[in-house]
Amino acid sequence: MGFKKDFKDKLYAWSQTVHRPLPWKGIDDPYLIWLSEILLQQTRVDQGLPYYLKFKEHYPTVEDMANAPEDDIMKLWEGLGYYSRARNMHATAKYIALERNGIFPNTYREILDLKGVGPYTAAAIASFAFNLPHAVVDGNVYRVLARIFAIDTPSDSTEGKKQFAELAHELLDKENPGKYNQAIMDFGATQCTPKNPACSDCVMSDHCQAFAKQAVAQYPIKTKKLKRKKRYFNYLVLNIDGQVYIRKRTQKDIWQKLYEFPLIETTEEISELGDLEKSEAWQQWLHEQPVKIDRKSKPYKQTLTHQLIHACFWEFHLDAAINLTDFDFQLVDRKNLRKFAFPKIIDWYLGDKSLYLNLF
Ligand code: ADE
Repeated sequence: MGFKKDFKDKLYAWSQTVHRPLPWKGIDDPYLIWLSEILLQQTRVDQGLPYYLKFKEHYPTVEDMANAPEDDIMKLWEGLGYYSRARNMHATAKYIALERNGIFPNTYREILDLKGVGPYTAAAIASFAFNLPHAVVDGNVYRVLARIFAIDTPSDSTEGKKQFAELAHELLDKENPGKYNQAIMDFGATQCTPKNPACSDCVMSDHCQAFAKQAVAQYPIKTKKLKRKKRYFNYLVLNIDGQVYIRKRTQKDIWQKLYEFPLIETTEEISELGDLEKSEAWQQWLHEQPVKIDRKSKPYKQTLTHQLIHACFWEFHLDAAINLTDFDFQLVDRKNLRKFAFPKIIDWYLGDKSLYLNLF
């Protein structure tokens, strides 16, 4: 037992010395707590914070969010990534506003049943909003516990997950689960960081087994190496009279409901226009159309959890409009492009264009 008993007191002692004011701390509105936790999934606080403020301002209540058009939600979400979270968030807001009369569920089980809520988020909401004794367990917590208790079981193995979850529950301050969870999150995010943790100035260091072994950097131990699938996106920027074609992504794939230019995906990088012209999509959309290429953009890269996207933007101008509406494309004024929600990689391209060429 030993240090396990004192763990929470050390954690609180640390917590008192740091000031990390965050707008969702100390509030008790379950809607805003849920909103903050959804926005912070797989996201650093400094990145998620402005989104929280924006969403809270636009939709102060769950009813406001439920009544919002989906495109508005997607536009506000733009840049945050993992867009299925935005769709799940909207569906959950509608469910709570319309089917539960705006009353947020107040048991762990029911919170976990909400779309887009996994065990970590359910524990966070249950503890912050309802003071229920559920310990948060995520990458930060794995790291903190793996180091302090020198746990050699890989945190991404079935056995490791079980072991970490049990230890996390054992350590939890069952009387003040919200306070405890917030403190361990803050500790992982600011003190016991993945790189360059502040060990020389840490209240835990006398008890930290990894520190004693001078092996802090080796924890947490992981088994699997993530392999990312490479995909090559060739975007056709078809300019005609100050307008371009775009369409909404509807297929079950990344970036569902975001907009994009006509896309030709290939298994390898394409450097010659001739290779693009041979593709089935080109044949369908542009066969026998006189298109003139203006330029090919530099390559852009975006790393997602399981995929590495390479994108290149091929810019053309057309002398006359072509009939792409059968394929759900719409012609929009270039100056209105900013009204649509695009994947980050397209935003980067548009940003470069407006900066250097004043085109969009
Ligand atoms: N990450 C996820 N939830 C958080 C919270 N409530 N405070 C800080 N970081 C978080």
